[in-house]
Parts: sequence; C-alpha cells; structure tokens
Amino acid sequence: MTSDSTAASALRPRRVLIDCDPGIDDALALIYLAGLHAQGDIELLGVTTTAGNTSTAQTALNATWVLEQCGFSDEHIPVAAGVEVPLEVELVTTPETHGATGLGYATASGVSPGGEWRELWERALAGGEVDLIITGPCTNLATWLREGHEFADFASVTVMGGAVLYPGNTTPTAEWNFWVDPHAADEVFRAATPGHRITLCPLNVTEQMLIGPGEAEQLIDALGDVPIAATLPEILRFYWEFHRSVGVGYTAQIHDLLTCMIALDQVKYSAYPASLRVEADSELTRGTTLAFRGEQLGGEPTVRVLERADVTSAKKRFYETAAFLD
Ligand code: BDR
Ligand code: CA
Repeated sequence: MTSDSTAASALRPRRVLIDCDPGIDDALALIYLAGLHAQGDIELLGVTTTAGNTSTAQTALNATWVLEQCGFSDEHIPVAAGVEVPLEVELVTTPETHGATGLGYATASGVSPGGEWRELWERALAGGEVDLIITGPCTNLATWLREGHEFADFASVTVMGGAVLYPGNTTPTAEWNFWVDPHAADEVFRAATPGHRITLCPLNVTEQMLIGPGEAEQLIDALGDVPIAATLPEILRFYWEFHRSVGVGYTAQIHDLLTCMIALDQVKYSAYPASLRVEADSELTRGTTLAFRGEQLGGEPTVRVLERADVTSAKKRFYETAAFLD
C-alpha cells in the first residue's frame, strides 16, 4: 500500500456492520450507530439480526423500526434477519428482560425488513474493509465460518458476551448471549487466529454502562424532535423495572452500546491478550467463558479481552452523537 492510499483510507469513515438482537440495549446501540452515520464518522452498511432476546424475525422488525424512528429507512441502512435458531440447542428468548416483543412497553410497527443476511455481508465485504460488531448470540458469524468463510474477511470483529471469572447474568457463571448459543460462541473463538483484531467485551465491564432516568433525560434532550425520543421512556421503563427486580436498582445496563463504542475506539479502554473457550456441552456450565491469558493455552493469544472502559466519557459521547440525528 502506498502512503497516498494509506492517507486515503485513514480519511475514509470506518465501514460497519452490526449483528444484533434488539433488545433494549441493542436498540440504544442502533441509535448511537445511526448518530455516527449521520455525523459521517462511520458508514453503517447494514444491520443483521440473530435470535436471542426475541426471535430473529422480531429482532429484524425491531431494528428496522428503531432505524426508521431515527430517520433511516431500509433503503438507507438495510436490515436482514439472520439464522433463526442456535446451532445445536433449542432457542430460548427473554421476554422478562426485554418485553414481549423485545422493546419493553413499546411495539415496532409499520415497517417490514427485507433482504438476505449473507447477501448483505457479501455486498458489504465486496466494497472494502468492514468492522463487524456482534451484540447478540454469535450464531450468524459461526454459520458464516462453517460455510467456509474466514475471520480475515473482516478488518475487526468485536463481540459482546461472556463473563470472565465473574458472576453471570443467566446462570452463576454464564452471560446471556453465550448461554443462548454456546456452540456458536465456542466455534467463533476457536476459529480466531493471532494477528486479527478480535475483541471480547464481557459482562465484567459492559454492566458498568448504566443508563437510568437521569441519563435518559439527557439523551432525550439531545435527540430533540427525532421520533424515537418520544418512545424511549416506554422502552427504557421496562428495562429499569427489570433491573430493579434483579437487585441492580432503577437503572439499566447498556452492554451493547458500550461494545459499539469500544469497537470503534470512541472511548478510552484497556484490554488484555488471551485465547478463549466457551463451554457448550455441559448443562450446568453451559455458556461459561474461559479466558486463557497470554500463551496459557499453548499458542499465541488470539483475542483482546476488554478489562476497563471510561463509561463516564462514553455516556457524554452518546448524547453528543445522538444530537446529530436531530
Ligand atoms: C446481553 O444479553 C442481552 O440480553 C443484551 O442485549 C446483551 O447483548 C447482556 O448479557
Ligand atoms: Ca443484545
């Protein structure tokens, strides 16, 4: 690559795909990415969805609706539903956490997602470097790899999932995304090779990104007349009530938003090198994530594991970015 082309690619906004399962914190991640896209900081090439918080058809409907409520129709930012069920286990969804249709007390309507997820990924990759962010179960990426593609297709892959030597939010040791499709998570990290930028954002850090009523007010102010602002209280109230019911308090952990910020280097953070395995075959420890630091697993580490992030700046950055949608 010549120095001229290096300069040209440095100026080009990062090209981003998100694979998600909205889901309330995924919905906030979409608002943030839509804001970065409006600002010209990234090119949001598309959104694909997985089954997790709710079914894949519903997550696609929710993603399409959230983007439309932020001013982007399917023509501007395409959405496609991905694989319908986990690789090897039955699908379990979580209406108690995210509401009957995944958006708390709100319901997506008046939109219909189209498109095919593989075509969306292929089209995006054909146009240049792509950063892939996964904020749901890893089912789509694991399927993509099973079909003969490689990690190297992506400039970077950032995954929200796992609890590393830390209490889980689904079982004593497992985090939800990895518990829903443990085989997919394990296959993805077994396929990871040194030299690629692959980052895990585990619960240990993402649960520090708290958005309660005070933060929501700042977000809604920043959004101004953007239609999603009117529904956010109904979306978030459900999540606050859920978090209160599990002892966190009247606030909500917005894992997926922080993950997007880490993926795109929008906040200060630190990460350590490791290789990962996810327990898939034991019922009791299903979804448990093991991070082998450095060369503990015998070879070079393949992944960076998020250890710390500046969540105060992250919230500020979120409001500033949301304001670009107005
Ligand atoms: C993860 O689980 C889902 O419920 C959230 O959307 C997030 O991606 C947190 O464990
Ligand atoms: Ca999610």
